[in-house]
Amino acid sequence: MSVAPSLTAVILAAGAGTRMKSRLSKVLHPLAGRPLLHYPLLAAHEAGARHLVVVASPANRDAVAQCLDGLELDATLAIAIQQSAQGTGDAAKAALGSLTGERVLILCGDTPLVRGSDLTRLIQETSDGKSFALMSCRLADPTGYGRILRDSAGRVQLVREQKDLKSNTEREVSEVNAGIYCLPRTSLEQALAKVDNQNASGEYYLTDIVGHRSSLESVLAVQGDAEALQGVNDRVQLGSAEQVLFERIRQRHQRAGVTVQAGVQIDDTVQIGNDCRLNAAVVLLGRTRLGSDVRVDHGCVIEDSVVDDAALIKPYSVITQSHVGARAQIGPFAHLRPDSELEADVHVGNFVETKKTLLRQGAKANHLAYLGDGEVGEGSNIGAGTIFCNYDGFSKARTVIGKGVFIGSDSQLIAPVNIGDGAYVGTGTTVTESVPAGSLALSRLPQTTKLDYAERLRTKLAERAKHKK
Ligand code: UD1
Ligand code: MG
Repeated sequence: MSVAPSLTAVILAAGAGTRMKSRLSKVLHPLAGRPLLHYPLLAAHEAGARHLVVVASPANRDAVAQCLDGLELDATLAIAIQQSAQGTGDAAKAALGSLTGERVLILCGDTPLVRGSDLTRLIQETSDGKSFALMSCRLADPTGYGRILRDSAGRVQLVREQKDLKSNTEREVSEVNAGIYCLPRTSLEQALAKVDNQNASGEYYLTDIVGHRSSLESVLAVQGDAEALQGVNDRVQLGSAEQVLFERIRQRHQRAGVTVQAGVQIDDTVQIGNDCRLNAAVVLLGRTRLGSDVRVDHGCVIEDSVVDDAALIKPYSVITQSHVGARAQIGPFAHLRPDSELEADVHVGNFVETKKTLLRQGAKANHLAYLGDGEVGEGSNIGAGTIFCNYDGFSKARTVIGKGVFIGSDSQLIAPVNIGDGAYVGTGTTVTESVPAGSLALSRLPQTTKLDYAERLRTKLAERAKHKK
């Protein structure tokens, strides 16, 4: 996109966000894996702005700064502070000292659906460096938005806020202000100097700059896509904006060669290789990356994790901050907790929980196990019901198992303990000492078998039960 280099974007993010009824600042509410504020910033950047100014409040400035850290943009970023939330006009004034370019693009921090492409015409219309344009759209229900009021010749005259509308005719105006403006810096400075707070809210409205400039020059309203220009003021609008985002994200991956069934939720930050298949109700969160040919079955939740090519994640598995190697098979009902590192061809089956554990290539733990703070060597097999007893109530200790080891079912390994390469731990063993390579470890009570005793035992137990009644 060719854009005059002097474009600076200002994103207003210092509002109180009262309608959200939240302790969290509105612009920091998560939406498809990003704080709301990221979206208008990304759109402004995509539209060509290379200097971005976020107007924050004293209350949210630290959190805003932290949320900007998560954005990798080829642009300079500055934070300006609006001391108290006295309206969007006052917020824009707070940004004046941080402007570098000759032309200013202003966006509200609460319009997450706007994309760079939605801003193209607005930017083109003002590329002479002299014109003032804003974005509008027509809504069947314009309630809550500022209305674009035009004169009898159809020229934009001013924007009137919902609370200040003077008549039913004004209320019925369906063309609304999207809160996105592009104009020369000098025009902005001059108009802001005239904005007062004589209105129903007692606030300094940025929208008043339209009335001030329209008396001097023509102000253009560029009509955009109504869905993309929706603002988020409450949680209902937050929910519907998120649905739109999820649908967009899903289609982006489908176009790139991923099969995505219904009800799948993919955060904006997730990366997916081609020929992956995501079955119904899968949730992919945060910094998750899937290689190619990965299949994720129904109901799995994968967060901040990397899954390599051709891995198979069977239904209802939960994977967090972990790595699954190529061709590995996980689940159903497996739980990989943070720092689980599974190399290629590993199998982790149903009701197996891992945490801070490395399973080397081809290792298997197929049924009912807890593997915490440990390492399992190449090709080793962990039997059903095995527990790494890693915690004594005060501190954690490690279990390290070598290559080609067999751990029999229902064994407990009381950490710290090492099992050498090729060792064999018999079923039901409680391992309290390290086992050297090639050894067999067994801890079992000898079995007692009383021939023909079963019927006597039943009679005895029945008698006892009768007396108890
Ligand atoms: C605003 C517009 C309205 C438009 C709508 C589009 C004004 C007066 N009204 O209304 O015409 O139809 O957006 O979505 O501009 N903010 C500050 N400081 C403040 C107040 C707000 O930084 O003192 C920020 C907020 O964080 C928010 C943005 O400005 O990101 C818009 O504020 P909001 O209160 O949501 O304005 P709307 O009522 O939606
Ligand atoms: Mg708003």
